[in-house]
Amino acid sequence: MSPMELELNTIRLEALREVSSVDSLEELREVEIKYLGRRGIINQLLKELRDIPPSERPEVGRLINQLKEELSNEIESKRSLLEEREKARRLEEERLDVTLPGVRLSLGRLHPLTLIIERVEEIFRGLGFTVVEGFEIESDYYNFEALNIPWYHPARDSQDSFYITDKLLLRTQTSPVQIRVMEKTKPPFKIIAPGRVYRRDQPTARHSPVFHQIEGMAVDRDITFADLKGTLDTFAHALFGDDVSTRFRADYFPFTEPSGEFAISCIFCKGKGCNVCSYSGWIEILGCGMVHPKVLEVGGIDPEEYSGFAFGMGWDRLAMLTYGVNDIRYFLENHPEFLAQF
Ligand code: DAH
Repeated sequence: MSPMELELNTIRLEALREVSSVDSLEELREVEIKYLGRRGIINQLLKELRDIPPSERPEVGRLINQLKEELSNEIESKRSLLEEREKARRLEEERLDVTLPGVRLSLGRLHPLTLIIERVEEIFRGLGFTVVEGFEIESDYYNFEALNIPWYHPARDSQDSFYITDKLLLRTQTSPVQIRVMEKTKPPFKIIAPGRVYRRDQPTARHSPVFHQIEGMAVDRDITFADLKGTLDTFAHALFGDDVSTRFRADYFPFTEPSGEFAISCIFCKGKGCNVCSYSGWIEILGCGMVHPKVLEVGGIDPEEYSGFAFGMGWDRLAMLTYGVNDIRYFLENHPEFLAQF
């Protein structure tokens, strides 16, 4: 081997070692420039051909070109290898695990008061009642006077009502809907009217200045107290189950005569007595009675020809009983943690 061949071989071995030891495309690019660049070692060698005796030039030139070709092939194959590796690394890095469970979107849900009223409406619709709505702002006439609530009745006291003007107030009960329905509807009819009512009460676990009632009224020829009892019994069993007992007791309301108060046996202690029913075994759920003849008359209905029953119940209280909620204020505060439970 001539000294020139020896030198070329040394360069070749060193170059091949460098190519095989690089670990990135940048390093490979550096090696490529070092050997094959414009001012690289190979070009340098070609330039030096001038100094070689002419007889040896073709052979040395051939060897240099051969080395050049071998190096560029090596570099190219190393480059594809590194590119391949880089691609695999990126794929691994950007990999999506399609088997991971998705993020569940929370869809929201119905308010407990809505759930209860939907159930109550369904029960009364099944009994032939129609659902109607009244007004939250009422006149003194509809809220009190037409309902036979005399001027000296304590419910009229401004302590208990939110008055807007001398004559207008936020309704304190849903009973004014009775008058509005009678004015517009010829008997027979059976309605329920759910809605908000307002009283000047200090908020406590059992009282809220804004709460909800459901009014009911049926007017026809020959309606008796037995119809009222049958209707409320059926309603209570449909809502609370067949094993609750029901109880009617005498009460007083200015717009019904006779008036009653309707209770169910305590659904928590089954009538044995507990703190929910104040150890009485009974839970009062509504007031009711036969529509007072004066009220029918005010509504334009002849009490000689027609009779009717009416009832009014606290809708929040029904929801509290059904869901075991012990503070009425939760219904208006709308904390997501509270609402998520229903
Ligand atoms: N309006 C009454 C109240 O707020 C409830 C009531 C009692 C309604 C007897 C009626 C009824 O229709 O007949 O306390």
